[in-house]
Amino acid sequence: MDLQLTGKRALVTGSTGGLGEEIARTLAAEGVAVVVHGRDRDRAEAIAEEIGGTVAIGDLATDEGADAVAEAAKEVDVLVNNLGVFDPSLTWDSLSADDWNDIYNVNVVASVRMIKRFVPGMRERGWGRVIQISSALSDYPMDTQPHYAATNAARNNLAASLSRELKDSGVTSNAVAAGGILTPKAKVRLTELGRQSGWGETWEDMAETAGRRLTTMVDVGRIGLPREYADMVTFLASPRSAYVTGATLRVDGGWH
Ligand SMILES: NC(=O)c1ccc[n+]([C@@H]2O[C@H](COP(=O)([O-])OP(=O)(O)OC[C@H]3O[C@@H](n4cnc5c(N)ncnc54)[C@H](OP(=O)(O)O)[C@@H]3O)[C@@H](O)[C@H]2O)c1
Repeated sequence: MDLQLTGKRALVTGSTGGLGEEIARTLAAEGVAVVVHGRDRDRAEAIAEEIGGTVAIGDLATDEGADAVAEAAKEVDVLVNNLGVFDPSLTWDSLSADDWNDIYNVNVVASVRMIKRFVPGMRERGWGRVIQISSALSDYPMDTQPHYAATNAARNNLAASLSRELKDSGVTSNAVAAGGILTPKAKVRLTELGRQSGWGETWEDMAETAGRRLTTMVDVGRIGLPREYADMVTFLASPRSAYVTGATLRVDGGWH
């Protein structure tokens, strides 16, 4: 399928690592001019150089950081709001009201800051794609990190509201909920869990056991790869997804 993405311009927030980096690389491989974003300029520039993109640096927890990113990125056709933070060790007891406010600011309001700066231009030009990265925990919250799960429900919800707002504009708005994806950070966390559970010492030792034990609630029966997630985002970013809007698509292997 020709995704017709050549010549489009995209900003992927939080693309100096993890899922964001994979999305940036996958879009670039389809001919998209990608703006790599993060707070660490060296990491952003290294990735941008590899994929033929440019960089925008700024802390999206603040309006000033968002302004700096908007100025550097200029106009974009595709906005992927990927930036998000989480910590599975946090619990109801250990989380303060400030922690809830802080994560909402980064995981939700940072996306709104980007929407306010980039979507008016898309609307004026009559074409655009806005994609919220979220998590399957939006539908399946656990006892730990309740604040993170709640921000993901908000991400899906705001994607649908924005779709209503953008009715008949040529700009679509969707969310993609990830579950069980083996990002570099996830690999480190799972390796630690595997050591504690006696599955082995390195990820390579324990990959098969970890895959079996950790995916009892996943229909595909294995952990997902970042590329499998990035492919869905890339399809949504393309003109071929014109009849998909207001949706939350799940890339979670059928997690339930
Ligand atoms: N990993 C998973 O398995 C998983 C599962 C479900 C959903 N998700 C979602 O996927 C997204 C990416 O997760 P990830 O694990 O791939 O992330 P990650 O590896 O931790 O990367 C986070 C990115 O965000 C940037 N960043 C962090 N705080 C920032 C801030 N205040 N302002 C600007 N940039 C900031 C970091 O760059 P700098 O350090 O350069 O600032 C980095 O590029 C998140 O929204 C997460 O909720 C992930």
